[in-house]
Amino acid sequence: MEPNKPCWCGSGKKYKKCHKNFDEKLHILKMQGHIVPDHSLIKTPEQIRMIRRSADLNTAVLDQVAAAIRPGMTTQEIDDIVYTFTTENGGIPAPLNYEGFPKSVCTSINDQICHGIPSEYDVLEEGDIVNVDVSTILDGYFSDASRMFAIGEVSDEAKRLIKVTEECVELGLAQARPWGFLGDIGEAVNTHATANGCSVVRDIGGHGVGLEFHEDPFVSYVTRKGTEMVMAPGMMFTIEPMINAGTYEYTVDEDNGWTVYTADGMLSAQIEYMVLITEDGVEVLTK
Ligand code: MF3
Ligand code: CO
Repeated sequence: MEPNKPCWCGSGKKYKKCHKNFDEKLHILKMQGHIVPDHSLIKTPEQIRMIRRSADLNTAVLDQVAAAIRPGMTTQEIDDIVYTFTTENGGIPAPLNYEGFPKSVCTSINDQICHGIPSEYDVLEEGDIVNVDVSTILDGYFSDASRMFAIGEVSDEAKRLIKVTEECVELGLAQARPWGFLGDIGEAVNTHATANGCSVVRDIGGHGVGLEFHEDPFVSYVTRKGTEMVMAPGMMFTIEPMINAGTYEYTVDEDNGWTVYTADGMLSAQIEYMVLITEDGVEVLTK
């Protein structure tokens, strides 16, 4: 690329003043055998501005759920809140009709690992733990985050699982930085989970996000430090480990083809942050 031509990132700056160093750095890392992102995974300043709006709406949707969730509520009522609030604010719930998913949000209770389908028959009861996974499209830009909710008073075991999951995500986040590796996040998550007697789901994980619901790279949380894709400024992806109290093995609901359960029937928890790698660190866009 010509040093004096406008940079490929769309900043309007000259290439030599913009992503020239960046490209050279990635080239060296690639020559050393590392996996590097291609330019399609680097968001432009304008894309970041638009995705930030989507992410802010996504957080507001989660806040609505947090304010309303209580024992006796059905997961369909959560779906109604998500659909109504999102569309009233100009957005579209990303799960709705995504690869045939029938509802606007995923609600995964107790031994459900992920992709629980809201239903008028599923009543949240005192002692349940539930993951609410909200994803939003605003003006064509995607955002994605999820939270755990304890319904009333829950068991010590459930409290501990949620606490370990929160710690896993925070420890993973602490490893998210430019020129680090996605495996740094994976190792931090997996080490903490296993040290606490929990396991990390292996085949389902995080993903790039922003221009699409699910972009490259796939983000695993059982990987090793110094491996997997290099994190470069402008990349966006999710940190969303699924932490099981027992085995990491799972089964998928045969009837609906979506809902993932722990194979041993023990509890599972998940927390999802959507992050942007910046020049000097990381920013959480929605959580
Ligand atoms: N929100 C999930 C994720 O974090 C994806 C759900 S796909 C759906 O990647 F179709 F079930 F909504
Ligand atoms: Co996600």
